[in-house]
Parts: sequence; structure tokens; C-alpha cells
Amino acid sequence: NQYFQDSNDLQGKTVLITAGPTQEAIDPVRYISNHSTGKMGIALATACYQRGATVTLVLGPTNEVVPPNTNIVRVVTAQQMMDACIHVFDKTDIAIMCAAVADYTPVHVATEKIKKSDQNLNIAFTKTPDILKHLGTIKKDHQILVGFALETNNENEYALLKLQQKNADFIVLNSMKDKDAGFGKDTNKITIFSKGGTVTSFETKTKEAVAHDIIHTILNH
Ligand code: CTP
Ligand code: CA
Repeated sequence: NQYFQDSNDLQGKTVLITAGPTQEAIDPVRYISNHSTGKMGIALATACYQRGATVTLVLGPTNEVVPPNTNIVRVVTAQQMMDACIHVFDKTDIAIMCAAVADYTPVHVATEKIKKSDQNLNIAFTKTPDILKHLGTIKKDHQILVGFALETNNENEYALLKLQQKNADFIVLNSMKDKDAGFGKDTNKITIFSKGGTVTSFETKTKEAVAHDIIHTILNH
């Protein structure tokens, strides 16, 4: 059993994981977000703890049950997620950015509920901070930085581009092509691209097994 063999390989290591969506408020009753549930990141946090790590899980809004024995930091917005990550990154050995961070946030949050009218509604959006990219600019040589990618087309090309542009050590590509993989599902199909040029593809597995594959790959590539 691979997991048993690996059981203490994160002993003494500090791991930072982001997971779940972020929500960006439009007005007091509305927000923009995405379908992420945080399941993959929660599975990663659990697996890292099982293998001996001290884990901080920065978690966007989700109803999923959170893992025990991990330091949970609940956040709502991309900016809050960024702040929480910066706060602990110095003391982090391995950072895994699993969250589906909203790419845009409204320029202004309306203080009162926006009323409907007969006109179209236009909302101006500004870009959120890119947490993975930022950590890539400040990371030290001993720190391992892992990003995720979810694409609907040209997935290998985009994954490799993200690896380079964000200065990550690994990018985990989530396949959208598998009907059993993705948002809210309990299984995932992944390919891991390393900075050194290695590409490792895995079969569809439970998110728990995928989490262990990811850890195994980043420690033994
Ligand atoms: N990410 C992040 N902060 C953001 C946006 C993305 O940390 N503001 C991280 C994600 O957690 C993931 C990686 O960057 O690890 C790639 O996210 P993805 O949404 O696939 O890529 P983007 O760079 O946002 O580009 P696009 O959505 O246009 O594909
Ligand atoms: Ca994005």
C-alpha cells in the first residue's frame, strides 16, 4: 500500500492549502462566484495531515465538512484569501493553491440592494490579485509551490503556460473531459506538469487517492 509506505513523509513540514470558491459581493444580497465546493483541497489537507504535516487550510465559502487537526482560516473574498496566504507563507514549506479564486470583483459594491429596471444591467469588474502568481514572485528555493488548472480547451498548452507564468514548481491539471471529474464530484482525473518538464497522468480516482498521488509526485519527482 503506497499510502502506508509514505505515511510519515511530511513529518515536520508545514503545508498551506487554498480551497473552495471565493465570493465577490455585488450588493448586500448578491455576489459573483463559481461552482467550486472545496472537496479537492479538503482531501489534500486531510492527506497532508495523515502524512505528518502541519496544515493551514485557507477555505472559501463551502458547506463541506472541514478536516480535523488542521488550522482552518475561513475567508470570503479573493483579497481575504491573498492576505491569509501572505500571513503564513514565510513559514510554509509546501503551498498548494487549489482554490477557484474569482478572477474579477465588482469595482464598487452597492451599499443598497440594486433594484431591477427595464434597462440592461452593466457591472464594472476589476481583476482580483493572483495569489499563486504573487507567491511565485516571493518564494524561496526551498519552498514548493503547486498550482491547479482547469481548462475547457487546449488544456496542456494552458497548463504549461501557467507553470511558467506563475513560477510554480508543479501544475495539477484537472480534466474536464471525464464525466466523473470536476466540480462537486467525488472523483478527479489529473495530469501533473513539473517545472523540470515531467508530465504524469493518472486514472480517474477518488479525490482522497488523487490527493495522495499529488503529494507523492511533488515529493518524489
Ligand atoms: N489562482 C490564484 N489567484 C487568482 C486566480 C487563480 O491563486 N486570483 C490560482 C488557482 O488557485 C490555481 C491557478 O491559479 O492554482 C490557476 O487558476 P486558473 O483559474 O486555472 O487560472 P488563471 O490564472 O486564473 O487564468 P484563467 O482563469 O484565465 O484560465
Ligand atoms: Ca481563473
